[in-house]
Amino acid sequence: MEMESAYKEALALDEQDELSAYRSRFISGDEKLIYLDGNSLGRLPAESKAIVDRTVNLEWGERLIRSWNADWFTKNRELGDKIARIAGASEGEVIVTDTTSVNLYKLAHAALKYKEGRRRIVTDELNFPSDIYILQGLVKAFGDGYELTVVPSRDGLTIDTGDLKANIDDNTALVSLSHVAFKSAFRYNMREITSLVHAKEAMMLWDLSHSIGAVPGELNASGADLAVGCTYKYLNGGPGSPAFLYVRKDLQDKLSSPIWGWFGEKNPFDFTLEYRHGEGISRFLAGTPPILALKTIEPTLDMMNEAGMERIRKKSVEQSEFLLKLAEEFLHPLGFRPGSPLDPEKRGSHVSLRHPEAYRICKALIDPGVGDYVVIPDFREPDNIRLGITPLYTTYTEIFLAVREISEIVENKLFLKYLSNREKVT
Ligand SMILES: Cc1ncc(COP(=O)(O)O)c(C=O)c1O
Repeated sequence: MEMESAYKEALALDEQDELSAYRSRFISGDEKLIYLDGNSLGRLPAESKAIVDRTVNLEWGERLIRSWNADWFTKNRELGDKIARIAGASEGEVIVTDTTSVNLYKLAHAALKYKEGRRRIVTDELNFPSDIYILQGLVKAFGDGYELTVVPSRDGLTIDTGDLKANIDDNTALVSLSHVAFKSAFRYNMREITSLVHAKEAMMLWDLSHSIGAVPGELNASGADLAVGCTYKYLNGGPGSPAFLYVRKDLQDKLSSPIWGWFGEKNPFDFTLEYRHGEGISRFLAGTPPILALKTIEPTLDMMNEAGMERIRKKSVEQSEFLLKLAEEFLHPLGFRPGSPLDPEKRGSHVSLRHPEAYRICKALIDPGVGDYVVIPDFREPDNIRLGITPLYTTYTEIFLAVREISEIVENKLFLKYLSNREKVT
């Protein structure tokens, strides 16, 4: 295939794209910018910008504290219900609060207490390090024979189901895994894994940070017990927007958060001095929600529920397959190899490509002085360039142009002028 025919194919695919209208609902000032990092920090929806303006100027500036009784007090629950639809959960099972790390701590702690007597937590080495740190901290805090088993990956990209199964035993209280792995995009089969965890009567906690809004959720269908996830990636909530947590309905009254804050109390404005657990999912709240950062999540949830997760997933798979086809044709001969599973059933919505010079290639891609476009992917140690596919705004033409830029940079060795020392945020 020639570059020219790949370009024509990309243009034709964009013509046929039934979700193409959503792109105009995001702010994009720079036509020469190709943004393939929506799996890390999503683009800004125009409606989110308007909401910030309204919340600051009208709700805070004019309405002041009266806004708590308008919709501020209930917003984290309302947004939770909208996330529930995307995640395959039911009303009242999801709430937006805190960070993913803090939510993971709260739910893992609750699970260990509920399964008292069992002392093992199982995770895998592809999990996000923060999740592993939280679990290590819990094991240390619980002490007394508690242990964390980190199942290794055989190929660095995937986890063998048999290896996972072999590590779940009658002493296992909790299995905590990322549904989609942050580096390779490896995706677990949520139904299969949840049922093998339940077969050992352990609890299953999913981190959906890299799958929410990218693949249709199966929380209820799989019978999952618990889940957490962030809102600043595919849900475009903005930097540091609060995370969410899910607790299956029948478990809510059986579990207890380790942080008994006033927002998790039955009626915070009774100001009683003895804590009473709040109703249902609200018992997992702790303190005052960050209203400005919370409200920006809603526009994407509305777009996703309108577009439908099945259509979003279909486009994500088609775009990822297009990218992998171009990579095989134009990038593998230049020393790249896949850093993600090739089977779409085993993949989320980003594609990692590996190259020994990945870091310096990323530097050249984002340098406005190199090539015709600025391409923003991200880099993950030791040699991964992650390319995020976000179907609400990514075009096939952008995918083609990104591959063309990468190939030109490598072919002409334009990365050689950059240093390999890493910046703080890669
Ligand atoms: C899979 C996964 N889990 C957890 C986190 C940590 O999220 P937070 O910073 O909200 O605690 C991230 C952050 O990117 C992540 O990708």
